[in-house]
Amino acid sequence: MKNKIIVVLGLATFVFIGMAASKPGSRSGERNLKVLPKDISNADLDSVMEIYSKHLNVSCDFCHATSKINPNDLDYASDDKPEKEITRQMMKMTAAINKDFFDYTIIYKAGERMAVSCFTCHDGFPRPEMKHEKKQ
Ligand code: HEC
Ligand code: HEC
Repeated sequence: MKNKIIVVLGLATFVFIGMAASKPGSRSGERNLKVLPKDISNADLDSVMEIYSKHLNVSCDFCHATSKINPNDLDYASDDKPEKEITRQMMKMTAAINKDFFDYTIIYKAGERMAVSCFTCHDGFPRPEMKHEKKQ
């Protein structure tokens, strides 16, 4: 009986650690969000990040630094890469254009509609001017 309890407790601890580890961001579960809503769901966060990657045609590591603990992982909460901070400015700018000129309020939900997105300018390039460089 006692052994059983220990096994169950052990399993519960294992599951709990697994859940904590799979949570994005820092170990405490607190995310480093300065523009996105603090209570954004994992699904909405994933959707926003996938859209940025698609609209600029880059991988997650374009904005996210390599983890100092495991070089095979990205440290999503880290602000070490300047592209991440530039993106925060771009997010604010894009939200402002939508609100001030088109009356769309960006709320960072999966599948949300907006007048001007990253793609409007970037068109699948990390820097918009690269579209023209390619044509020349
Ligand atoms: C163009 C830049 C860019 C790309 C590409 C990008 N991200 Fe992000 N990501 C950001 C920014 C900026 C933030 C912080 C937003 C804020 O401060 O509100 C962020 C935040 C996050 C967070 C929350 C981190 C935390 O603090 O807990 C996760 C998780 C994340 N990104 C995952 C991804 C994944 C997975 C991909 C690839 C599919 C990806 N990102 C691609 C810019 C990017
Ligand atoms: C109104 C046009 C416009 C929109 C909308 C826009 N960007 Fe940009 N973005 C630019 C321009 C122009 C540059 C290049 C600035 C420069 O060369 O100094 C740039 C540069 C960047 C860079 C730096 C790239 C590098 O290699 O240095 C990132 C990252 C970026 N944008 C992400 C985004 C994301 C993510 C979005 C959507 C949330 C977005 N941008 C929306 C025009 C835009």
